[in-house]
Amino acid sequence: MINSKAIERYRTKFLAHLEQKPISKEPRNLYEPISYILGLGGKRMRPVLTLMTAELFGGKVENALDAALAIEVFHNFSLVHDDIMDDAPLRRGNATVHEKWDVNTGILSGDAMLIYAYQCFENYPAETYKALTKLFSKTAIEVCEGQQYDVDFETRDDVTIPEYLKMIEYKTAVLVAAAMQMGAIVAGAKTEDANSIYEFGRNLGIAFQLQDDYLDAFGDPKTFGKQVGGDIMENKKTFLFLKAMEFAPSDDREGLMHLYSIQPDDAMAKVDTVKAIFMESGAVEATKKEIENYTNKAFSTLEGLNIPDENKALLKEFGENLMRRTV
Ligand code: IPE
Ligand code: IPE
Ligand code: MG
Ligand code: MG
Ligand code: MG
Repeated sequence: MINSKAIERYRTKFLAHLEQKPISKEPRNLYEPISYILGLGGKRMRPVLTLMTAELFGGKVENALDAALAIEVFHNFSLVHDDIMDDAPLRRGNATVHEKWDVNTGILSGDAMLIYAYQCFENYPAETYKALTKLFSKTAIEVCEGQQYDVDFETRDDVTIPEYLKMIEYKTAVLVAAAMQMGAIVAGAKTEDANSIYEFGRNLGIAFQLQDDYLDAFGDPKTFGKQVGGDIMENKKTFLFLKAMEFAPSDDREGLMHLYSIQPDDAMAKVDTVKAIFMESGAVEATKKEIENYTNKAFSTLEGLNIPDENKALLKEFGENLMRRTV
């Protein structure tokens, strides 16, 4: 998806770094799932953002590699636990860790990954180490808060749009924002600039999660890599759902309410009915509009930033590609 040459260069450098650090020790049942999930690929968007931001602020990519690794390992840890919580069978086109092994393996391998992520910071000089771990801890605890809201909302029928936005900011956007701020920290950027790039990442991350919600329902099962319709099956209160509840005629609203209070045997029939309501109600249009709004919000935070215009252009290209993604 993100196919500009510059972006590809960051991904290549990150992958080389990842390969240099093989995690293959005993006991195998702890470490194999870690290599498995990290080896399944994914877009590598967060580490690319860390490396890119470091360079955009005049730092060296090499100095940002360990911070990028910490972010990607944490992200993969959060996916292993998220897939348990969401009862998800598929990740990146393959079986999820708890499906391939079991839930206990997913829990413990995930825990080890979280700890490994912290270890990635150990080679930084004391001041940088402190700044990075402080940001990381704040971010990680917010991700937990976001994940708890996400789960709590499954069984609530009065979730509001502001509550939803806060939930996705925490579960997803703060990590994208922190990935970028870490690049700025490693590069020694001014605090003001580090904060602006955090804002850029936060808004981009919100757009990213809105798009994830859209793709979860309307992505192409052949390429999406996750179970299409999983959010509907799990009664997730996504932007699509909340807007459908706002716009749909009352009989459709009642139908939705009912379908979102049960987990029927025929899950696919539920998914099809719900998707039809999402489309007819205008919820799909509203979601697309909101993705664009948050992407533009991200772009507007670039205006005050003290970096060359060509660097801003690269960040914009990244944002535009994300908006068009199908995976
Ligand atoms: C999935 O993230 C989890 C969300 C926050 C939506 P990505 O879509 O970045 O997953 P990979 O790493 O590319 O597989
Ligand atoms: C994921 O949200 C957020 C975290 C993993 C912290 P989702 O549950 O929507 O992510 P996917 O769709 O499973 O990748
Ligand atoms: Mg999930
Ligand atoms: Mg989830
Ligand atoms: Mg999702």
